[in-house]
Amino acid sequence: MAFFLRPITPTASNIRLSGKTAIVTGPTAGLGFDTCRQLMELGCSTLILACRDISKGFKTCETLLSEHSVRAKNEKPPSMKVMELDLGDFNSVQSFADKVKSEIPIVDILILNAGVGFVGNLQLSKDGHEITLQTNYLSNALLVLELLPHLQQSALQTRTQTKITWLGSRSAYESNLARNLSVESSIFQHMDDPKNYSVKDRYADTKLLSYIFMSTLAKRLSSSPPLSLDDDTPNDKNHNNQMGFSDRNTESVIINMVCPGLIATDFTYKHLPLWAKLLVLLLLFLAARTVEQGVWSIINAVAVAGAESHGEFLLDKDVKAAPPFLSTPNGKRFRQQVWKETMMQIGKIRTTGLRQSRPSLNFHISPAEKVIDPARNSI
Ligand SMILES: NC(=O)c1ccc[n+]([C@@H]2O[C@H](COP(=O)([O-])OP(=O)(O)OC[C@H]3O[C@@H](n4cnc5c(N)ncnc54)[C@H](OP(=O)(O)O)[C@@H]3O)[C@@H](O)[C@H]2O)c1
Repeated sequence: MAFFLRPITPTASNIRLSGKTAIVTGPTAGLGFDTCRQLMELGCSTLILACRDISKGFKTCETLLSEHSVRAKNEKPPSMKVMELDLGDFNSVQSFADKVKSEIPIVDILILNAGVGFVGNLQLSKDGHEITLQTNYLSNALLVLELLPHLQQSALQTRTQTKITWLGSRSAYESNLARNLSVESSIFQHMDDPKNYSVKDRYADTKLLSYIFMSTLAKRLSSSPPLSLDDDTPNDKNHNNQMGFSDRNTESVIINMVCPGLIATDFTYKHLPLWAKLLVLLLLFLAARTVEQGVWSIINAVAVAGAESHGEFLLDKDVKAAPPFLSTPNGKRFRQQVWKETMMQIGKIRTTGLRQSRPSLNFHISPAEKVIDPARNSI
């Protein structure tokens, strides 16, 4: 019963995902769980459940399969695999990516759903970053860069575009991170510093970083010759309504971000004190969409939105222009800083992480065979 959000339409009945393999991060609760359920209803053939708690993952798998057998008696259940992924730990992200590359030959869809919200007092991950920053942003950026070549290969082999859909939030548009950052200070050092921590702002800040990274990466994937970050030309590729069947599209991997609106999960209130929990519950009762409705927008981003959504933020099901601040000179500088610092951070993780000598992260950019190497941090 969402009084303040506009109504949202269900997924069209002709959308089918038979033959597809999808990875969903954070499938054990909320939107992630229902995303798996709806992917199964659409006939998705293989589902990879990427969970930080493996035993919870097996339970989730059991529940999904038993529900499916009741609902769709005559339909073959998808093949399911539970894999460990803790976004609070860079080593775990790298092991997960390695396992995917060696065990899952084709990945058609990667849904970056796992995330944390308002976690209360400042907590540091074992890598030393504030936990919201690492979970929502840094680990997802690392995961995308680790798996991108695999999704590009999958697209080549299947001759079908693959898709990365990242869960964002409209709160990113309200973030004051860039304004609060003093000149010359590093973004991540600023965010890891307890003095600058605000539970109220942190979630929106990490979603802004995610948006900037996603949209910059998409531009770099599309551009030939390479785009300057000053170039704010919108992505005007031809509309492609069904995932990946138009030869007018040049990207082998489409990456987009979706915000499903305020959804009635316990995400927003699970770490709050009781009195605040009760207020949020009232707000959710009055204003939130159901989880099922929220997932309709996720499925739209995954299975319906095409090249027009590449690098874009989908508010429910519609492309929304970038936050206006990002087109100002300061905004452009900030965008550039986010990209540069992220690539440096990821370069560092890859040289000091799990494997000392990880191959350099080169991925091909269609249509020209251009290569981005984060170690060189080229912009
Ligand atoms: N709910 C909303 O109103 C709303 C609105 C806009 C966007 N979103 C976005 O939608 C996504 C899902 O939200 P939700 O409401 O479904 O949240 P949720 O019910 O709290 O579920 C979060 C999921 O993420 C997993 N997760 C948390 N930390 C993790 C980590 N370190 N490594 C791996 N997995 C981790 C959780 O696993 P465990 O079961 O192990 O905790 C759980 O499966 C988030 O990215 C959120 O920002 C939500």
